[in-house]
This record gives sequence, C-alpha cells and structure tokens, in this order.
Amino acid sequence: MAAKTMSAGEIRSSFLEFFRSKGHEIVPSSPVVLPADPSLLFVNAGMNQFKDIFLGARASAYRRVANSQKCIRVSGKHNDLEEVGHDTYHHTFFEMLGNWSFGDYYKRESIQWGWELLTTVWRLPKERLWATVYKEDEEAAAIWRDITNIEPSHVLRFGEKDNFWEMGETGPCGPCSEIHFDRTEGGCGPEMVNAGRPEVIEIWNHVFIQYNRRADGSLEELPSKHVDTGMGLERVSAVIQGRPSNYDTDLFMPIIRAVERVSGRSYVAADAVAMRVIADHLRALAFAMADGVMPSNEGRGYVLRRLLRRAVRYGRRLGMTQPFMAELFPTLEAAMGEAYPELKDRAREIVRALRAEETSFAETLDRGIETFEETASRVLAGGQTVFPGEEAFRLYDTYGFPLDLTMVMAAEKGLTVDQAAFDRSMEAQRRRARGARKAAASPAHADLVSDLVSRGLRTVFTGYRTLEQNATVIGVVRVTGESVERVEALAEGEEGLLLLSETPFYAEKGGQLGDHGHIASEGGRFDVRDTRSPAEGIVFHVGRIAKGRVAEGQTVRAVVTDARRQALARHHTATHLLQYALRTVVGTGVSQAGSYVGPDRLRFDFNWFEALSKEQVDAVERMVNELIMADDPVTTTEMALKDIPGSGIIALFDEKYGDTVRVVSVNGYSRELCGGTHVARTGEIGAFRILAESSIASGVRRIEAAAGLAAYELARNDRALLEALAARLSVAPSELPARMEAMTAQIKSLEKELRERERAALLGRAETIAKGARDVKGVRLAVAALEEVSGEALQCLAEAVLAGMGSGVVVLGSGVAGGKAQFVGAISRDLVERGLHAGRLIKEVARVAGGSGGGQPGLARAGGKDAAKVPEAIASAADTLVAML
Ligand code: SER
Repeated sequence: MAAKTMSAGEIRSSFLEFFRSKGHEIVPSSPVVLPADPSLLFVNAGMNQFKDIFLGARASAYRRVANSQKCIRVSGKHNDLEEVGHDTYHHTFFEMLGNWSFGDYYKRESIQWGWELLTTVWRLPKERLWATVYKEDEEAAAIWRDITNIEPSHVLRFGEKDNFWEMGETGPCGPCSEIHFDRTEGGCGPEMVNAGRPEVIEIWNHVFIQYNRRADGSLEELPSKHVDTGMGLERVSAVIQGRPSNYDTDLFMPIIRAVERVSGRSYVAADAVAMRVIADHLRALAFAMADGVMPSNEGRGYVLRRLLRRAVRYGRRLGMTQPFMAELFPTLEAAMGEAYPELKDRAREIVRALRAEETSFAETLDRGIETFEETASRVLAGGQTVFPGEEAFRLYDTYGFPLDLTMVMAAEKGLTVDQAAFDRSMEAQRRRARGARKAAASPAHADLVSDLVSRGLRTVFTGYRTLEQNATVIGVVRVTGESVERVEALAEGEEGLLLLSETPFYAEKGGQLGDHGHIASEGGRFDVRDTRSPAEGIVFHVGRIAKGRVAEGQTVRAVVTDARRQALARHHTATHLLQYALRTVVGTGVSQAGSYVGPDRLRFDFNWFEALSKEQVDAVERMVNELIMADDPVTTTEMALKDIPGSGIIALFDEKYGDTVRVVSVNGYSRELCGGTHVARTGEIGAFRILAESSIASGVRRIEAAAGLAAYELARNDRALLEALAARLSVAPSELPARMEAMTAQIKSLEKELRERERAALLGRAETIAKGARDVKGVRLAVAALEEVSGEALQCLAEAVLAGMGSGVVVLGSGVAGGKAQFVGAISRDLVERGLHAGRLIKEVARVAGGSGGGQPGLARAGGKDAAKVPEAIASAADTLVAML
C-alpha cells in the first residue's frame, strides 16, 4: 500500500506487523492507570508496564515485545497539558507505538529496524529525516553512520535535556536517540532540530535503558541492557498522511467535524484552538473513564475534572452553553472502539459521567465568571490594568479556568494578567503536592527495595499449596522509626523485616490483606503481623522478634495463621461471587473500581451511576448465598496475558500482571484475573451478608459485606439485639411488631390528651388574667408575667385573654430558657380603630428588657435580652398606654 493513503489504524497495524516479523510478541496496551506504581499518576509511556522487568525485579516470558500503548501526559515529569491546542503535536492522550528488548538486542538492531520501517516500509524520504544521539554516545553515532544510509550531516548530538530519557523522578532511564521529521518547505538546517518548531518534530525515540535513577538522585547500573522505543501514532500519522498538524489526521478530524456540527461553527482560524482542545480532552477523558477513573476531587479524578472543565470553557468560546461532551463521545467510540473495545464496553457509563460532570460544572462555571467579573471591576475601579496572578490561579484551581482563557477574558476588558504571580502560586502548589508524594513513598524504603532487587534477592511464593514451609533467611532488615537498615540478625524485642528463600505468606495485593503468623528459628521466634511485597519477588515479613534471635542464613519454619487465612479466602471468593451477582442482577456495566478483602469484612467498590434499590441489594445477597449452597468448585489456571482481551475474563488492572496470568474460575461462570487465595469450593464460604450499599464518589458505589463466621456472627448479634428488645418489652420477638404498633398508638393518644389538658389549663389561666384587668383612662388593660412559656403559647394565651375581655389591651411577658425575654401584645379591633397599635406598644415594653420587635396593630411579638426585667417591662405597659391614648 502506498504509505500516503494509509489510515492511522493501518499505520498502527503495519507497525505491529513489522515488529512481529522481527520476532516480537504483540502485547495489549496496559490501562492508563497502574495504581500499583505510586510514582505515576497516569501511564505516560509504553515502558511503564515493563518497569519491573527493566529493573530486574520480574522476569518476562518474551525477550522482544511490541504494542500500541494508551498514554496520558498531564502531570509529573511528562506533562503536555499547556501545549495542547496551541501547538499541533502535543496531546493529553496519545497512542505510543513501541518495541522493546528485555536484555536481548540493543542499539544496533533498534536503530537499524527503526530506519528500515521509516524509509523502506513507510517510504519516508531520507533527506527529511534527522537523528539525534546523546553527546557521549559514540556507539549510537557510529551505528547511524555505518549501518544506515542517513545523510551523515543529519546526525546531531545533544545533552541530557534532549537525549537522556527518564520515566520520572526515579526508575529506569538511559541515553536515547531520537528521529525527527522535517516538513519545512525548502528543507531545514541542523539549528531547527529540537528547537520547538512545529515544522520539525520528533517522531520516534529510541531509549537505551541501562540505569535506574534512585531516590537519592544517583544512577545505578542495571543488571542488563534494554531497548525502549516510543513513536507517537498521532505524529507519525500526520507525517505519513502529509498533514500539517496531528489534528488534521483521521484520528482527530471526525471529532472536530462533530464539534463543528454541535457548535454550528467552522474549524478555521479563531475557533480552531478551541476545537482542538475539545477533541484532545474528549479522548483523554473517555480513555481514562474506560479504564475506570471517574472525575472527583482528588488524584486522578481531579485531573479528569480539570480536563473536562477546560474543554467546557473552550466550548463556551464556541458559543456552546449546553452540555456537549457526551454528544461527541459516539463519534470517538465509532472511530476507536474497534481497536479499544473498552470504549464500547463502558460507553454507557462514560456518556453518563460526562453529562453529569458537565451539568454540575455549569454552576461552578457561572460562579467562576462572577468571580472573574468582580475582580476585574475592582481592578478597573482602582484605575489599574493588571489582573492579579493569584486571582487567576484561584480561578484556575477552584473553577478550572485555564490561564489562557482568563487572559482572553481579561484582554476583552483591556487588562493583562500578572503571569509571574500566577506561576508563583502554581509553583507553590506543586511544591506542596511534591512534598505530599514524597512523604507517602519514603525514599529510604524505596532505596532499600531497589538495593534488594539489584542484589537479585527473590522469594518463591508457595502459599497457594501450603501454609507451612521450611526456608532460609536471605535478608534481615531492622526498622527503627523511619529508618531501615540491613543487618545480620535481629535480637529479642527488635522490629524488622525478614526475607526468606521461600514463603507460604501471602503479601497484601489486589485488595487482599497480607498473612499473619510466625517464623520459628532454632531458639528464636519472629511474629509476623503483616506481609507486604514492595516489588515483584520481594516479600517483607513485617513484625518483631518475640523471643531469641533470627539471623541471615538460618533455616526457619514459616507458619501462616490458618484461621485468618481461611477467613481471608472466604471473603475473597465471596468478592468474586458478589461481582458476578452484581453483573447479573444490576447489569454487565458494573465494573470493579477497587476492593478490600479482610478476615471479617469485604468491601467492593464498583462503577455505577445510581444507588441500588433495596430489591436489587436483596437479590444480589440471595444470589451469592445460592451460589454458596451450590458448592461450586473454584479452580485456578494460568493463561498468557495476550489471550485475555476478548476472552470475557474480568481483568482489573490495578496491579501489574506478569506475561502469564492466573485466572480464578468459579465453575466457569465467574472468571477473573486474580493472584489472591481462595477456597476450594464455594460451600466453604458458609454464609454471606450485605451490610451496606453506599456512594463513595460520583459514579462509584460501595458494598460492604461479610462472609463465613463473620456473617454468622452478624446474624447472631442481630438475634441478640432482637431478644434484648423483646425481653425489655416482655413479649416474644415475633410479637415485637404488634407491640411496637400498639405502643405508637398509645403514644399518639397520650400526646393528644396532653395537648388538650394544656389548652384547658391555658384557658383557665386566661380567665384569671382577664379578671385582673384594670382601667387605664377608660381602656381595660390586662398584664401578666409568666415563667418560661414559649412564644407560641404566649400568643395563644394573649388571644384567649382578649377573647374573654371583649374590648381591651393585653400585654404578656415571659422569661424563656437561656435568659431571654418574650413579649406579646394584643389589642381588640375597636381600640385599634381608635388608633392604638400593638406593635408600637410592645416595642416600648420590650425596650425595658433590652429588646426590640413589633408587628401588626392588633397583635405583635417582641423579644428581650434580659428575662429578669420581664416584670418591670410588663409594669411599664400602663404608662406607655397612657401616652398613646
Ligand atoms: N519511553 C520513551 C518515551 O516515552 C520511549 O518510549 O519517549
């Protein structure tokens, strides 16, 4: 096929085919999140999922692999967010075509095959290609010269910044050789390479991984040398299809056309940037959501929220005020659902999440615009022309306003934004974030682990078959506070970590807690209170020496606490049954978002958009119990990872799976990738109870449940509670409902009776007060000071007194709890007609007790600060009345 007519999809397949022909195994893209790696928010390069292989911590079944990897670059070392839309070749989401050698071929083949694919298979003109090498990498420079027919003057040398690639603050790294493509009109010179020019762009990076960057900043030589290459599919498609920008390729144009349709604008000049940003962000959002990340207020979810807001803000520039992202999704799904079926599988959730998030942002957006307007008017009123950078940052951080938009809005008012102050605020926030990340993954710990890995220490896990095991102590680490130190032996009372040649202890993984137990040596005993695996093959038995000592080289017996392991296994298998039941009862759209498997509880978090009904929860619980009673067999098998896609097996990539993966199957109906420990038959679970169903984030629900003895204990506690209640009421538990009914009825009738008595008492009192009325200049005035009567009751009483008097004036006061006073004044209609006013009267009365108030001519209420002054205030009513008459 003539290269120029190739679609992006064909370019992807042609890349993979080429490397298949060079002996590479084609593997699936990992999801865009690998939460097992805390140094990484999102997958930012094809090599992320192979990090442990490069470090020597995990063996690979293949020595050569290739794939197309979904990448998101919005944070950390590789962050392209601010470039997006303004230039034509950076994206928040992109596909990275890559090929890897794990200790197999090195620079020569990598460069040779790269050149062959570009110039022979894709027929890119060699005079348009430039290669860069690391300044000290003579070997790579010589390979370019000797075995390719590249123009010798087209091989350039650069320093660390351009030609030494690192995954992040720590991890695998090495010198690299990049290939750039020149699309200037007349051909470019060397000064235009690596100069940030859109006409001369890097298309392929070949990294020669040979070091590990440690937390202390030093470089450590790796046991083997590897190749890690990455080529942006979007860029190479633009180059092959002869387009000036990535957005003009078939990867983006369908989405941009959809934006044109929805907005009624055209993809030209002023509107192009907004359309590009929207198309770019839609892809990042949809792919992240397809891998289970949903917008939220922290971490990855927060990144998504900000991306969405950025897109929506740009949408407003195109005049779109209604939610539109969800309308665009089907276009993306149609274009890429074939290559990435997760987009199809999760389409419903993605559309709902986009719509919900966009709708709720509309409100924030309006508030943000308001905040902007307020600040802008303040600045203008003060005769200033600079919009404060701190405010721009607040808009960015709180309302998701990208800086460039604030600048555009400011410019419309003749203002400029103080960008330096914005940058300072941003930097301050980054520092805080970095501090938090560092504290989470202690550097001392990270260095210890990479030290152990590089020494080749590995533990063989035997805990699927046995709970007891003889082993040799291969490492001893003393832990004192924050510090860790490798030692010969631990003495009685010391805290530490033991590493064994073999272990039956399961290390916390995939939500299942680590095993407890003990490790016995000749004359010594180490109590294990947790088991953790910080890197593939490295198992830390965490605990302390209960007696004697344990030393490196000793033979020991490692014993897992049986009852706890059993309880963990019941809860783990129950979690699989729960997921199956949810997908059956609620819908196949349910997918796992996280889980916790403990000895007495399990938690299962899943993506779903609404609360489950009580009927659904009941049906799920019942189904799990039926599956338990069916006593179905639970079996495990090994499978090649590459056979998983399309097999219907549920894979939650919140952990790194090896090339061969373990599939746990319950009688064939539930099949999940899982490394956990399980019961042999569902009957062993015994019982299952759901305790709660709740929401933990937008679009994420949580079920808490218990299995086995823990479920039985819960039932027993419920029964004990019922029995205690029944005993208290002297009935049988089964009679409780009728008894409660009767009690409720009795309470109601008692309350009614009480109200009637109060009324009667009030009326009696009213009569007494009315009787005590005296004559003030021909007007009957009744007053009374009462103890702690509510304002409502006081008003009722005043009305009752007035009713008894026919014509007259009533003033009542009361001190209420808390030391405040209340007053009510009531005046009969005939006197109101003569000009008397209860509001004015009561205002004067209340003033005596330090209060105020008012109201209608016929009825008014007021409060006072000092309850002790009530009698005095009431007594003043007569004088006030005289003055009014
Ligand atoms: N890891 C290198 C990069 O991201 C090559 O894939 O550029």
